Amino acid sequence: MVDERPLRRNSEVLAETMELEGSRLLDVGCGDGTLLGWFLRRGADAFGLDPQPARLEEAARRIGPGRCVAGCGEMLPFGDAAFDAVVFFNSLHHLPEPAMAGALVEARRVLRDGGRLVVVEPLAEGGYFEVMRPVEDETGVRAAARRALRDAAGARFRLEEEREYRTLVPVASAAELIGRLAAADPGRRPRLEALRPVVERLYVAHLRRDAKGRPALEQPMRIDLLRRV
Ligand SMILES: C[S@@+](CC[C@H](N)C(=O)[O-])C[C@H]1O[C@@H](n2cnc3c(N)ncnc32)[C@H](O)[C@@H]1O
Repeated sequence: MVDERPLRRNSEVLAETMELEGSRLLDVGCGDGTLLGWFLRRGADAFGLDPQPARLEEAARRIGPGRCVAGCGEMLPFGDAAFDAVVFFNSLHHLPEPAMAGALVEARRVLRDGGRLVVVEPLAEGGYFEVMRPVEDETGVRAAARRALRDAAGARFRLEEEREYRTLVPVASAAELIGRLAAADPGRRPRLEALRPVVERLYVAHLRRDAKGRPALEQPMRIDLLRRV
């Protein structure tokens, strides 16, 4: 069966769905600051938050000091109505499941009236998902994140747009993927080491090439755009 969802870059989808220039924006679970740097280059007054000190150090090296703070989505160290937009990019399903709903309450609190919540999540399918599945099957947590978002959309936000697309994530090798999965969640490292041969085999089986010819894995995504009400 042909997958009719468009093949897009995450940055293209964000650029066409978000108003970035001059927007005061919070990136929750900013990781190494790659996306935060992209927001800043497009004129957003962007800040990031992440609980992992090592990731925050990487982010500070990438974009300079003063833009990233240590913290958790479920207890944001910012005042009420401080932001025009709050973004969770590949991060909502990384929060502890009981904290997901509370994090969306927090997102609402720090958003100004009419501000935008943008949630981009990977779906539990596709090559990238299949390669990491033996290490950690995220089917359950991704579904929990979706439920939390659905509940928030019914109560604290108005869902304005939802779309699915496929993206090709450049991954140069199985070793790079293993490093990336461990960086996102250091608790995975022992399992990653034990399953290295399995990950290597699945990586080869699912390998594709992106438009620039780089080795890549396909990952279907969903973006939800919600308005604070
Ligand atoms: C898969 S990474 C995504 C990082 C970044 N958004 C990106 O797409 O490159 C998930 C991130 O969520 C962060 N995270 C985990 N628990 C969190 C929490 N309770 N609140 C905020 N972020 C959290 C992790 O530290 C990690 O950096």
